[in-house]
Amino acid sequence: MNPRTSAAAIYPGTGDRIEIATIAIAPPRRGEVLVRIMASGVCGSDRHVLDNEWGVPSPTVMGHEGSGIVVELGEGVTDLSEGDHVALVWNQACLTCVACQSGKPWACTDLRSNECVMPDGTTRLSLDGTDAYPYLAVGSMSEFAVVPASAAIRMPKELPFDVSALIGCSVHTGLGAVNNNARVAAGESAVVIGCGGVGLSIIMGLRLTGAHPIIAVDRNPEKLEIARAAGATHAILADDDTASRIQEVTGGGADVAFEAIGNRHTIPQLPGHVRPGGRAVLVGMPPEDTLIPFDVLDLCYRGITIIASNYGGGVPARDFPRYADLYLAGRLPLDSLISKRIALSEVNDAFQAMRSGAEARSVVVFDHSND
Ligand SMILES: NC(=O)c1ccc[n+]([C@@H]2O[C@H](COP(=O)([O-])OP(=O)(O)OC[C@H]3O[C@@H](n4cnc5c(N)ncnc54)[C@H](O)[C@@H]3O)[C@@H](O)[C@H]2O)c1
Ligand SMILES: [Zn+2]
Ligand SMILES: [Zn+2]
Repeated sequence: MNPRTSAAAIYPGTGDRIEIATIAIAPPRRGEVLVRIMASGVCGSDRHVLDNEWGVPSPTVMGHEGSGIVVELGEGVTDLSEGDHVALVWNQACLTCVACQSGKPWACTDLRSNECVMPDGTTRLSLDGTDAYPYLAVGSMSEFAVVPASAAIRMPKELPFDVSALIGCSVHTGLGAVNNNARVAAGESAVVIGCGGVGLSIIMGLRLTGAHPIIAVDRNPEKLEIARAAGATHAILADDDTASRIQEVTGGGADVAFEAIGNRHTIPQLPGHVRPGGRAVLVGMPPEDTLIPFDVLDLCYRGITIIASNYGGGVPARDFPRYADLYLAGRLPLDSLISKRIALSEVNDAFQAMRSGAEARSVVVFDHSND
């Protein structure tokens, strides 16, 4: 098959805007699949790239929270078929290193997807004849993408594509942080700082585990309304008094606190929100090379556990289908994460809304009616 062309959201490497351009996509190689992308969420991690907070090779085809339909199989792919609906994995673990073999694909030591290349170090994408790089080796803000078959997890056909896309990042990250990293037990108290797609997913995970109370904190009152609908029992508008309000509601600190912004001011405050013996879970990711000061003596005296969470400490092949089943059974209201469905051409506006904290999740939906 000849290379295909695809409209895609390109980050040129400078500035803070995306350009829509037509890329060429080479056919999938051995062990890879070509996916017709149906939906791609607008995640805070894409924004870090646009705001020059994280370096990536460019030009970059943005998007890493994607879903779609398998349309072509590379050589040797036996566990997927054309027509399968899939959600895409951005932490593309090798599945053979010691960490992967120990059930920790999020700790894979042979990862190449964070360099925005395929496992063999190359890319299938080009723009005007030069290499282009799929963000986190997904590049889902594009009509088509090539990914390793192991990074395309088959999902039930009745699952809506927009929800499926979110399972690929924010949901897997948020629910995983609750279940795998913090291992929250029923009745434990929890606080979530930042209620975007990731924070709201944490709140939904907390509700499922039976945590109580669940305290949502955000600087945007609209987010707090969504957080209440997602399962928060208390909502606190972020201001100078946030810490004492949390102490008040929890009677001296929560059992577990999650930071889901990646903010250099809210991260160091996190251990202060938990009781002695509590857990502070770092989910939000700050700009590269950010050093955060912690009062180590206080952490030691109070026996605080700090947990850094990568991709929910989960196993996508196990967890994606579980979250899909919970959604289909009516136990996980993932539709409420989606504030807007947009066209690819509207993606800059969605990032602008995200910078101001205005939307929960915007999801790019693709119209393939003219394919
Ligand atoms: N650890 C992981 O594996 C992982 C995976 C995915 C995303 N992330 C990171 O999680 C973070 C959140 O992602 P998202 O997509 O939910 O982003 P988002 O921008 O949608 O959400 C951030 C939320 O924080 C709120 N906020 C911002 N500054 C605040 C402040 N000072 N006080 C209180 N609230 C504030 C905003 O109003 C918004 O609701 C990002 O840093 C992203 O890179 C981490
Ligand atoms: Zn993401
Ligand atoms: Zn590995």
